[in-house]
Amino acid sequence: MNRDSARLSLIVAATLLLPSLSGTGTAQDRPGIDPDRPTVLVTGANRGIGLALTTHYLGEGYNVLAAVRTPARATELTSLGGNYEHLFIEQLDVTDEARIAELADAYRGTPIDILINNAGVYGDIESQSWGSLSSATFEQVMAVNVFAPMKLAEAFADHVAASDQRKIVSITSGAGVVSREGRPGGGIIYGTSKAALNKAMRQIRAEVSEDGIIVALIAPGIVATDMLSVARPGLVAQAKTPAEAAAGIADVIAGLDESYDGRPRNYDGSVIPW
Ligand SMILES: NC(=O)c1ccc[n+]([C@@H]2O[C@H](COP(=O)([O-])OP(=O)(O)OC[C@H]3O[C@@H](n4cnc5c(N)ncnc54)[C@H](OP(=O)(O)O)[C@@H]3O)[C@@H](O)[C@H]2O)c1
Repeated sequence: MNRDSARLSLIVAATLLLPSLSGTGTAQDRPGIDPDRPTVLVTGANRGIGLALTTHYLGEGYNVLAAVRTPARATELTSLGGNYEHLFIEQLDVTDEARIAELADAYRGTPIDILINNAGVYGDIESQSWGSLSSATFEQVMAVNVFAPMKLAEAFADHVAASDQRKIVSITSGAGVVSREGRPGGGIIYGTSKAALNKAMRQIRAEVSEDGIIVALIAPGIVATDMLSVARPGLVAQAKTPAEAAAGIADVIAGLDESYDGRPRNYDGSVIPW
């Protein structure tokens, strides 16, 4: 499916889902990427931190390529299209390599200033508890949290290199810090995946820095999302809102320049140890 047909399907689906959007645009009259705006690609854009990042960058005037696994269920995201014509919703399961390649082809020639690898999973808690570790959960979490950001970085490196800002950002977590003691009962698979993500991005930095691309790792802190409610319900009361996290992450991204050393940063700009 090419980009236009993917977008047409999406808009048809959105129109069926959200009658209030009828008449706001069709694939034929929907404007394309505005070359005068910067462009950001966000994965997992339908809820949580990804939705907040999408909203934030739309408000900043970016073209936002919002990649979501199931567009028909992304009603909150789709409704933003009523206010912002520079929102482009794209279907993407980040573990689907063929679809990653198809999207990269569809946007070939479009500079992408910022790629944000946000989509992530915690993984089933029971199957990462000591005594009942599951290889199936390990493989699923590693596929989404580690390999997908690597593959997306590879697929979109040319688009990012052609942009003004040239930034690839992956959302990491304090759970991936190797130098801290582990927590009994902690999500061993999730934490391992974020540590691996950190290493993967360190390696990718070596691959793309010649093209002037900045490869960054940013942790959002503790954020009240579906993931937190399931993984660490006891922390929800003290958590930031996704909008607060997104504003912090976007500030850190804006401040990234060639002096950035590649070490993970918190949403408030502080350095997180490896
Ligand atoms: N919340 C926190 O306190 C916290 C702390 C540290 C780091 N993080 C990181 O922040 C990022 C966002 O997490 P969140 O808290 O916003 O979680 P969330 O509310 O659970 O959202 C996760 C997002 O990832 C998407 N996703 C999962 N698997 C996918 C796949 N195979 N293909 C495409 N999209 C997929 C989900 O899409 P579906 O709706 O289709 O499932 C959803 O949009 C993650 O990388 C997470 O590890 C969060």
